[in-house]
Amino acid sequence: MKIAMVGSGYVGLVSGACFADFGHDVVCIDKDQSKIDRLHDGVMPIYEPGLAELVGTNVKAGRLSFTTSLAEGIAGASAIFIAVGTPSRRGDGHADLSFVYAVAEEIGASLSNDAVVVTKSTVPVGTGDEVERILRSSGTKHRFAVVSNPEFLREGAAIGDFKHPDRIVIGTEEEFGREVMHEVYRPLFLNESPILFTSRRSAELIKYAGNAFLATKIMFINEMADLCEKVGANVQDVSRGIGSDKRIGPKFLNAGPGYGGSCFPKDTLALLKTAEDYESPIRIVEAVVKANDHRKRAMGRKVLEAIGGADTARGKRVALLGLTFKPNTDDMRDSPAIAIAQALQDAGVEVTAYDPEGMELAAPLMPGVVMKSDAYAAIDGADAVAIVTEWDAFRALDLARVKSLAKAPVLVDLRNIYQPADVREAGFDYVSVGRS
Ligand code: UDX
Repeated sequence: MKIAMVGSGYVGLVSGACFADFGHDVVCIDKDQSKIDRLHDGVMPIYEPGLAELVGTNVKAGRLSFTTSLAEGIAGASAIFIAVGTPSRRGDGHADLSFVYAVAEEIGASLSNDAVVVTKSTVPVGTGDEVERILRSSGTKHRFAVVSNPEFLREGAAIGDFKHPDRIVIGTEEEFGREVMHEVYRPLFLNESPILFTSRRSAELIKYAGNAFLATKIMFINEMADLCEKVGANVQDVSRGIGSDKRIGPKFLNAGPGYGGSCFPKDTLALLKTAEDYESPIRIVEAVVKANDHRKRAMGRKVLEAIGGADTARGKRVALLGLTFKPNTDDMRDSPAIAIAQALQDAGVEVTAYDPEGMELAAPLMPGVVMKSDAYAAIDGADAVAIVTEWDAFRALDLARVKSLAKAPVLVDLRNIYQPADVREAGFDYVSVGRS
């Protein structure tokens, strides 16, 4: 079966490479010529573990190719995926659908066979209806169906998530849509991954509802962590205690500096906009969004307190370890590190930083922060070290070396990756999240 993937960004490229690995014939399309040129040379536009190898193998096997021409790429494809970006629209938080609709127009104008058009981009409820309207108004004579197939990939674990999904959601009311999607995901049917067929609107909402629920879970445990600090409880014990109730579940209950990334911040905002449009407020998600914004700045204040408070902070230096919104990615979007560095700089603190993959993208977002070539270079001369992202490389720091390099032995662990007793035994003032 031939599949076309329009948009070779994160979701498009990972999905395209995985579909090719299933044995399908896949063409990834992108209008960015330099991105396609680099892909032809085997250079990935994003950092994702295992992606370069997966792309390389499938290109070599002749199952995966790249082009800038949409008309050429979709010719003969039974399934055409739309996987272009849907960023937050500046000013109002609505998802910006202009890329999705522009692609739909172009597909309508160049369709040369019957095909199912699948929205994989995260799109608000009702977008499928508009894509269908655009295709119909193109006057195409070919048979088509518009299907919603939301993506649940986590950055850093995207290939594993794609190949072993908890579930696949396919939103369509049409038999043609079902048949083609069944064929697209046949290898996963064989794998016994559950496939949920729903209406198109339900599928569109599932993506937003899922992300909003996970964001809520994170912020619930984060606020519980604040209470733990006040009452002398340990948030990791509370997490384990509630998480082992099967109705709650153990995942997404790690307290930290707040959520970031390309999905949760944008999707919670877009869901609230939909709720507003339909006059059906989701007050719990409104509170989550506010609490998360507040938390990122509060983490900056937590670091300031660890160095003796904002009043005496001017001229001191803090080393930030980890800048990306989570490990195993170079993605800096809405990373808590940005707000933390800003809060420190506002108090006159000099900030040094190291991140294994994120420094290139971080530098323009964090003016004045001095990027260093490794963790110890960042720590050299610092009044405190703050772990912001839980990269494996920071889990086994040589504490004796940290102590000898830093000006003061202060460790702020915003991801709870150390045991308080171990760090204190090594002679540090140790501050973590929701633990005393
Ligand atoms: C998320 C969803 O998991 C995925 O299904 C969706 O398709 C896209 O958005 P991603 O943004 O890659 O994926 O990252 P994820 O691993 O979910 O983490 C999101 C944020 O939550 C990160 O900032 C992370 O640090 C934070 N988080 C996660 C916590 O603070 N605590 C947790 O227990 C889990």
